Amino acid sequence: MQSVAFFNNKGGVGKTTLVVNLAAYLALEKKRRVLLIDADPQCNATQAMFTDDFVDRRYSNKNSFSIYKVVQPLAAGKGYSASLAVERSKRFGVDVIVGDPRLALAEDVLARDWSTAVSGDTRGLRTTLLFSELLSRCGEYDYVLFDVSPSLGSINRAVLVACNFFISPMSVDIFSLRALENIASALENWSRQLSRGLEENPEPEELPMRSYNWRLRFAGYVSQQYIAKRDAEGHARPVAAYEKISKRIPDLIAEHFLGDQASPLRKEDYALGNIPTLHSLIPMAQSARAPIFALGAKDGVVGSHFLKVRELKDTFGGIANRLERNINELSQI
Ligand SMILES: Nc1ncnc2c1ncn2[C@@H]1O[C@H](COP(=O)(O)OP(=O)(O)OP(=O)(O)O)[C@@H](O)[C@H]1O
Ligand SMILES: [Mg+2]
Repeated sequence: MQSVAFFNNKGGVGKTTLVVNLAAYLALEKKRRVLLIDADPQCNATQAMFTDDFVDRRYSNKNSFSIYKVVQPLAAGKGYSASLAVERSKRFGVDVIVGDPRLALAEDVLARDWSTAVSGDTRGLRTTLLFSELLSRCGEYDYVLFDVSPSLGSINRAVLVACNFFISPMSVDIFSLRALENIASALENWSRQLSRGLEENPEPEELPMRSYNWRLRFAGYVSQQYIAKRDAEGHARPVAAYEKISKRIPDLIAEHFLGDQASPLRKEDYALGNIPTLHSLIPMAQSARAPIFALGAKDGVVGSHFLKVRELKDTFGGIANRLERNINELSQI
C-alpha cells in the first residue's frame, strides 16, 4: 500500500479536483484499490463525490463515522478509534473516509500534543502518529490518497508524518514557487523535531509502530489551469509569464525537495502533467458527482465536449502513469 498526500500550502490550486479524478482514474481505468481520505475540514472532496441527499443524511446523524471520529477518541484521551467505516462512491470506484467540518476542532489538540511529542512525551507522539496508525489498518488498498487543506497546520503535519509520498498540484505563478519554499522548510523542521522526540521517548512499546521512520518523499507536481495561446498555425503556445515560471520549477524542486533524496529519477520526471482550464466541465462533473473524464451524454455532455472529455482521460491517464512510475522507482531505494 502506498499513501500519497495531495498537498500545497497555496489554496485553490486544484488539489481536490486532482485527487478525486486521479483516484477515480486509478480505480476505474487501472483497477487499483483506492481509499480516499478527506482530511480537509472544508469537505470539498466529499461534496464532489456524494449527493446532497447522502451528505444531508450523513451529517444529520452526529454519530456517523467520518474523519473526525478518527481524531475524537484521541482528543478525549481514549486512544485510537476502535473501528473504521468507509463509504463507497460507485461512480468514482473508490472507498472514502468522508470529511467532517468538526475536524477543524482537532487542529488545537494536534498542535498541543505535537509540542510535547517533540520532547519525547508518549501521549503527544501517539496523537501525532494517528494517521500512521490509521494507515496500518489500510493494507488492503493499493493506494490511500489524502485530500488536505492548504495549510501548514497540525492536521496536515500529522497527515504528512504518516504518508510515504506527497505530490503538489500547483498553479504556475510566483506565489506557488514561494509555497514550495515554505513546504520544504516546514518538512525539514518537522522531520528533525519528530526524530528527536522519538529518540527521547522512554516507552516505544506504547507507540502504534515499533520503528517509525520519516518516509515522506516528493513524487511530483501537476500544474493547473494553464491557459495557452494559439500561434498563427493554431498550435497551443504557453503565455510568456507561464513559460518563464514553469522553466524555473524543475530547478526549484531539485533545490528544495530532492537535496538529500537519492533518486533514480531525473528532475524532469517530477513533472506529472498539466491540467487545462476545464470551463463548463467542472460544474457538469460537480452536479453529476462524476469523474470529469467519465462524463457522458446523460450528464449533459454535448458536441465538442465529447472530444474534451476524451482528451482529459488521456491527461489523467498520463498523470496516473507517471505518478505510479515515480512511486515504483522511488520505492526501490
Ligand atoms: N482545471 C480547472 N479548470 C477550471 N476550474 C478549475 C480547475 N481546477 C479547479 N478548478 C476550480 O477552481 C476552484 C479550486 O479548485 P480546487 O477546489 O480543486 O482547489 P484546491 O487546491 O483543492 O482548493 P483548497 O485550497 O481550497 O482546498 C474550484 O472551484 C474548482 O472547481
Ligand atoms: Mg481542496
